[in-house]
Amino acid sequence: MRPSVLGSAMRPSASPLVSRISMLSRPSHSSRRCLSHQATATPAPAPAPIPVQPARAISQLLKWKPEQNVDNVVVHGYVRSVRGLKAWRFVSLADGSSLDPLQAVIESGLAEGLTVGAAVRLTGSWVASPGAAQSHELQVREVKVLGSSDAKTFPIQKKYQTPEYLRTLPHLRPRTPLNALLLRLRSEAVTSLTQFFARQDFVQTHPPIITSSDCEGAGEVFTLNPANYTAGQPGKESADSQDSFFRSKKYLTVSTQLHLEALAQSVGNVWTLSPVFRAEQSDTSRHLSEFYMLEAEMSFVDDMNSVMDLAEDMMRQLGTDLYQSDTVKSLLTRTPHFGQDLAPAEEVDRRWQGLMQPDWPRITYTEAIDILKQHEDKFEHKPVWGAGLQSEHEKFIASTVGKDRPVFVTNYPRDIKAFYMRPTRGPGSEDPSRVTVDCFDLLVPELCEIAGGSMREHQLEPLLDIMTRQGIIKSPSETASEDDSGNGLQWYADLRRWGCPPHGGFGLGFDRLLSYLSGVQTVRDIVSFPRWYGRCDC
Ligand code: 4AD
Ligand code: MG
Repeated sequence: MRPSVLGSAMRPSASPLVSRISMLSRPSHSSRRCLSHQATATPAPAPAPIPVQPARAISQLLKWKPEQNVDNVVVHGYVRSVRGLKAWRFVSLADGSSLDPLQAVIESGLAEGLTVGAAVRLTGSWVASPGAAQSHELQVREVKVLGSSDAKTFPIQKKYQTPEYLRTLPHLRPRTPLNALLLRLRSEAVTSLTQFFARQDFVQTHPPIITSSDCEGAGEVFTLNPANYTAGQPGKESADSQDSFFRSKKYLTVSTQLHLEALAQSVGNVWTLSPVFRAEQSDTSRHLSEFYMLEAEMSFVDDMNSVMDLAEDMMRQLGTDLYQSDTVKSLLTRTPHFGQDLAPAEEVDRRWQGLMQPDWPRITYTEAIDILKQHEDKFEHKPVWGAGLQSEHEKFIASTVGKDRPVFVTNYPRDIKAFYMRPTRGPGSEDPSRVTVDCFDLLVPELCEIAGGSMREHQLEPLLDIMTRQGIIKSPSETASEDDSGNGLQWYADLRRWGCPPHGGFGLGFDRLLSYLSGVQTVRDIVSFPRWYGRCDC
């Protein structure tokens, strides 16, 4: 059935929002142009333009409270539940734009095919609702089932389903209200971060995913081979043989940092949000094999405080931009039904508040060890200078030093950090047994490390020295080791040969951050298609 002439149902007394929506519902310039173009191309008389009634997002409709009934309202969505009385059906409709569904009232005769999961278009009047659940409801006069659903086999139900069960259905899980909300949160966070970096004149870049080296040197890279590659065939003994696809061993990137450093030498400050891959056999709530890392690299910067300032400002801006958004508001005011697997709403609220606070604490690793030693009976692992901080240590520092604010821990011992970090200079750095590097980890309660960064060794000789000491190259005069056949990291050393200013940057675990800010208890449930040790479902 063709909708009636647009706007005719709008009464003169309609609210500004009603008039705005009625304007929206007129055919666009481009569609009008398109119709007139067809009219000139075809000798037959031009058909009368068909009024286009755009479908409205459920989130917008739920906020729209006109005093008068408004006809010809169209909405697209998926049936979440159907309750029936004899003559009428009450249908809950969701479209992923809000946690709450829309209530539609439909005569039973029209309700055929309205089964749980079905994709539908409903047209009707938006009228004040007698029920308490929502102020208005859609009284439906036209139903179009656009994608049918067998409700008996549809695995997503309105009733509570455990995160573990939903994780077995990664292709359908996004259709739950909470997972739709998490997708919107991710999207809004990316928008905010993109705007932040644009305002700071950072250039967004696309470093490669396939790489020749293990940037972090932790041996957690996945190697890359064609599907038809068979190790052990004559001439195909190893992935770096001449017969292999790239003629030498290649990996999936664990961090885009090294390539970002090259790009920073072109356009100055750069950033990227890129998938990275780690073959860590860590079966924890914080580790994924594929995750998004936001990385930024600053050029002509000598003081690591500038890099920490950038990370702090970026995250504070994110907090300020999103805290008042509908998405975060619904996260913080959700009903227990949606929130039962999340950290408590008050706790999540404190995390957002902490993000927006100024002056996040910055302490050195040595100070952190001193604090931990005063409480060493609380820990399973004794805090020792020179060893990495265990997650129990990080949790303690985050919750006692930072309280609700994230905490920077700086200047870790050189021997437990990546080769590219610049050694600390100045007072306190004289002791050769306690060499530290200009680096930081950013810690938050519960999730521990969400970002890590450093100043990079920008001078050639010291870089070659440390690369030799760590066995990355055979000697300072030979920048390629035997087993990387010259394809590994000599290009990285090259960046120091021709005009390398002091520079530094950081990498933020984007999924860990979203997990922290949403209250989702494991990063496996913050990404739609999680991959971790032993699991990669579809
Ligand atoms: O601390 P990482 O290893 O730092 C680097 O890769 C640097 N090259 C970044 C840079 O300076 N440009 O990783 C950065 C962040 C961590 O702080 C953590 O939040 C996250 O990435 N991360 C993981 N997130 C999910 N699953 C994993 N397996 C992760 N490993 C690291
Ligand atoms: Mg780290």
